[in-house]
Amino acid sequence: MDMQQKRKSVLITGAGSGIGRAAALRFNAEGYGVCLFDIKEAAIKEVAAELNPGVGSLCLTGSVTELSDMTDAVAATRDMFGTLDCIVTSAGVVKVEPAVDADPDFFRKTMEINVMGTWFTAQAAGRVMIEQGFGAIVMIGSVYGSGGAPQRTAYCASKGAVHNLVRSLAVEWGPSGVRVNAVAPTGVRTPMVQDLIDRGIYDLAGVEGRAPLRRLAEPEEVAAACYFLASDEARMTTGTILPVDGGWIANGYTLGKRD
Ligand SMILES: NC(=O)c1ccc[n+]([C@@H]2O[C@H](COP(=O)([O-])OP(=O)(O)OC[C@H]3O[C@@H](n4cnc5c(N)ncnc54)[C@H](O)[C@@H]3O)[C@@H](O)[C@H]2O)c1
Repeated sequence: MDMQQKRKSVLITGAGSGIGRAAALRFNAEGYGVCLFDIKEAAIKEVAAELNPGVGSLCLTGSVTELSDMTDAVAATRDMFGTLDCIVTSAGVVKVEPAVDADPDFFRKTMEINVMGTWFTAQAAGRVMIEQGFGAIVMIGSVYGSGGAPQRTAYCASKGAVHNLVRSLAVEWGPSGVRVNAVAPTGVRTPMVQDLIDRGIYDLAGVEGRAPLRRLAEPEEVAAACYFLASDEARMTTGTILPVDGGWIANGYTLGKRD
């Protein structure tokens, strides 16, 4: 067996930007073989150029909404590294709009990418992980998966579904040695959020004000939690939604207000 086959491996969706990119850099730094998967080819090529070239990596373009793309990505990762140790499902979209005007096409697209895409990735990975007898699945949920927010109907519905996907799969696949968890970040400084801030439709003061730590999260802080949940350090943890939110969910006081 050559050195590359002995590496642990991770398949990361949405690896071309934000949290997925940060996760790719973190797992690569920890010596994992990384499969970068995104719908945007140029974006993953740029991230791949930032990785330590001494550790193997793989770039695959496709859409999480296609089960066949995810089955191929899982197979390619396992073939390159010998096993599929973990996945991080970070591909996702958001739109801020009043519920009464919500675009039905975008509502469907949100459910297709955030829910079906996460499900297809987990299903494709789960088939391989169950056969191996081990594996860790880390989904990206949200504080909006546990509570509502104005003008994010589709997004909140999709993240609530992701949180219950975690619990359902953890219960079903735990006896096969496969752990399933999620991180639930508050607002994270990624291109997704920067775009909303630039367009003046992100309540930065409100989000920062609700979190007792009084700031957004950095992508690297979310990636650190993903790495923990994927690692052997979390071997007794499954079915968990781990907040990475500066205390946002814990806060029942001064909602949305700054000091
Ligand atoms: N940024 C935040 O504040 C925040 C907070 C909580 C949860 N999240 C969640 O974290 C995840 C990543 O968000 P981000 O802020 O890094 O976003 P981002 O927009 O920076 O990155 C998302 C990536 O997903 C890719 N993608 C979109 N549709 C895809 C598809 N069909 N197939 C494959 N790839 C696709 C995009 O090309 C992009 O590279 C999302 O699920 C998001 O809902 C983000």
